[in-house]
Amino acid sequence: MTLQERDKNHLWHPLKQHQTHPESLAIVKAKGCILTDEKGNEYIDAISSWYTCMFGHCNEYITSRVSSQMQTLDQIMFSDFTHEPAIKLSENLIKILPNNQNRIFFNDNGSTAVEAGIKMALQYYFNLDEKRSTFIAFENGFHGDTFGAMSVSGLSVYNGPFEDFLMDVKRIPVPNERKSSRNFSEVTKSIQKTKDCRFHL
Ligand SMILES: Cc1ncc(COP(=O)(O)O)c(C=O)c1O
Repeated sequence: MTLQERDKNHLWHPLKQHQTHPESLAIVKAKGCILTDEKGNEYIDAISSWYTCMFGHCNEYITSRVSSQMQTLDQIMFSDFTHEPAIKLSENLIKILPNNQNRIFFNDNGSTAVEAGIKMALQYYFNLDEKRSTFIAFENGFHGDTFGAMSVSGLSVYNGPFEDFLMDVKRIPVPNERKSSRNFSEVTKSIQKTKDCRFHL
């Protein structure tokens, strides 16, 4: 049995319509931007594995550093523990971030990073004793698969079955050079229509 056939026995794939596209391409090797499938066919990974692989697949520096780290300290819960790689990465990131940033909160994927951002915004007002519940988001965005991230994304076939359970979000058009003043008035109208609105422009 090929990997492609075995895959269909037990696996669901994310963001995939299995009924109309049952087959998944079985990749056995990757180097730089080239992927090789189980039959030896080569493909250019032009989307950099959903833009997570911008330094190339099996990058020698990254694989050697990951391998040596795994042999020294593989994992530690991050709540009450810390470690030098995280400290060093935060120090390096702070150097390239705008001056008003001085703390990093690490997450392990894009969706939960968006959840953390949403929770920080909610907690900011909770701590001020001003509970707020409405978000403003750009139309046609995609921020991930978790409930908060789906809520602040644009409407999509992926979210359809879950829409009744999403957070309260007002969607506004993405600003561009030609439409910036229209966008600004739509943003202010949207803010004023929310039940959380505390100001009038
Ligand atoms: C802008 C943006 N935010 C969040 C995500 C979700 O990331 P993840 O798939 O790691 O949960 C994506 C994924 O494509 C994205 O493009």
